[in-house]
Amino acid sequence: MTDDNSMKDQLDELVENMVRILEGEDAKVYSEEVIAEFRNSSNVGRMADADGDGVADGLCKDTMEMWVKVRDGLITDCTFFTDGCGATIACGSRLTRFVKGLSTDEAMRVKPRDLVSMLNGLPPDHEHCAALAIMAFKDALRDCEARRSAGAGGVKR
Ligand code: FES
Repeated sequence: MTDDNSMKDQLDELVENMVRILEGEDAKVYSEEVIAEFRNSSNVGRMADADGDGVADGLCKDTMEMWVKVRDGLITDCTFFTDGCGATIACGSRLTRFVKGLSTDEAMRVKPRDLVSMLNGLPPDHEHCAALAIMAFKDALRDCEARRSAGAGGVKR
């Protein structure tokens, strides 16, 4: 999706966007949980040794990529990157924190509305941002399973 230099540029832009959202009118429409997740975004960036790599494109044309590491059926690490909006950053951060320690079966059952609830709601015109995060995450889990099925060391899609 992106090389490391363009990812750094996008990360800089992402931080600028976050500050703009935090200081702007948009802050009034987001829950405290969403704002807190912006301020302390976790697990942002590419995972070099991921077991699975997923990507999703939203209806809004924004994208999210997620990476997962799985050991003995449990998710041990999960990171994300997005060129999307502030709500999407909060969704990626919250979801990656939530899934660590879950089994892959449990994680596959997480739904966009669960993520919206964890963030104490999203504005209606940003609920699709949660769906984008969930789609990218589940794509990463499917990639992990595909690699496992392909054998030790598997092949990246
Ligand atoms: Fe496009 Fe949030 S992901 S507006």
